[in-house]
Amino acid sequence: MENVFSSKHPLVMHKLTKLRDRKTEPKKFRELIREIAALLVYEATNDLLVAPTEIETPLEPIEGASLQQKIGLVPILRAGLGMVDGIWGLMPSAEVWHIGLFRDEETLKPVEYYNKLPIEPTVSVCLILDPMLATGGSAIATVDILKEWGVEKIKFIGVIASPEGISALHKEHPDVHIHVAAIDRELNEYGYILPGLGDAGDRQFGTA
Ligand code: PRP
Ligand code: URA
Repeated sequence: MENVFSSKHPLVMHKLTKLRDRKTEPKKFRELIREIAALLVYEATNDLLVAPTEIETPLEPIEGASLQQKIGLVPILRAGLGMVDGIWGLMPSAEVWHIGLFRDEETLKPVEYYNKLPIEPTVSVCLILDPMLATGGSAIATVDILKEWGVEKIKFIGVIASPEGISALHKEHPDVHIHVAAIDRELNEYGYILPGLGDAGDRQFGTA
């Protein structure tokens, strides 16, 4: 499917296997989420625009390159929070804008509870961060918010997606690139991804 990328990187696959393991404790789980997020973003940002930049090495002048676009990291609370640090380390001048959504347990529809975006957009590229793309409702709602804000380019960075979530997000927003570590088999009747990794928020924050 166009604009959908599932990483085949050996480091991602290795770390994802540890992440899925029910025996992995919250401390290790957080470390793995942080590392996988950084690896996925490395792959997802290979089309960022750069401008030629003149500098001098200690030996001679050279034309280098500098990032041209203002980047916004948009973690979806709570579980997306754990993906911020690893990525921010790679692009320390990125802005971080939080969006608070939770899934209603009955309807599985996203409920918005936090959004402090200013009126005018301050970034041109947004990377939405959320480890799980299940029904796709939370990701779609976040893209809706960011498009209304006026962001030009939006990418979704997740760890595990269901086929249903990929289809829903792609159908609603085909221009949004989706980068994940794996596309799993299916959703169960409670909206959990199978085989998945369980509840990404609870496993990070020790609240299971
Ligand atoms: C989880 C996950 C996503 C959402 C995915 O969050 O982190 O945000 O579910 O499901 P969807 O694709 O069906 O919308 P949850 O609502 O459990 O909140 P939490 O991160 O605060 O635990
Ligand atoms: N949210 C999670 O944390 N896990 C799932 O499998 C689905 C939604």
